[in-house]
Amino acid sequence: ILKGVIMDLKDHIRGIPDFPKPGILFYDISTLLAEPDAWQVAMGRMAKIVSRHQPDILAGLDARGFLVAAPLALKLGLGFTMVRKKGKLPGETIQYDYDLEYGSNTIEIQADCVKPGQRVVILDDLLATGGTMEAAIKLFKDVGAEVVGTACMIELTFLNGRERLDGVPFDTLVAYD
Ligand code: PRP
Ligand code: MG
Repeated sequence: ILKGVIMDLKDHIRGIPDFPKPGILFYDISTLLAEPDAWQVAMGRMAKIVSRHQPDILAGLDARGFLVAAPLALKLGLGFTMVRKKGKLPGETIQYDYDLEYGSNTIEIQADCVKPGQRVVILDDLLATGGTMEAAIKLFKDVGAEVVGTACMIELTFLNGRERLDGVPFDTLVAYD
């Protein structure tokens, strides 16, 4: 990592047109993850954001959110829990249905994945309409957790997703308008 040079993470994120549907510009973090310096810088910046909330546990949204939340939890010495698309988690679960930028979805968490009052920060790669993050916030509140923050690597600001987050703080590393 070059000292004195502030890395622009946008240089390491690709925009791929017409995926998964015509008219959608897909912001792809694969190129960032494949570049160790860029991934380190991204996780370092996320660690600062996340630790300000003093969480007890980090949650990642299936699937790309796992790539953000799990390494951060390990780096910060915190627990990690998965928010999964339906039908993947064993034991007692609670579900929530929501609309996506493209299509609709159901996510779920295990009923005992957090203890009542635990401080949770929910993480994902990208905030688009905010539907996925909104659903995850509802699930954690339902099981008695305190949702103290949310963050993504990328925010599509023109979709105003952060307005759906029930007043929970949201941070992003990069924004596209
Ligand atoms: C994408 C992205 C976010 C979500 C954002 O996930 O990774 O999780 O959509 O959209 P929203 O803010 O409109 O809800 P996707 O469902 O494509 O699946 P993946 O993470 O499993 O690849
Ligand atoms: Mg996702």
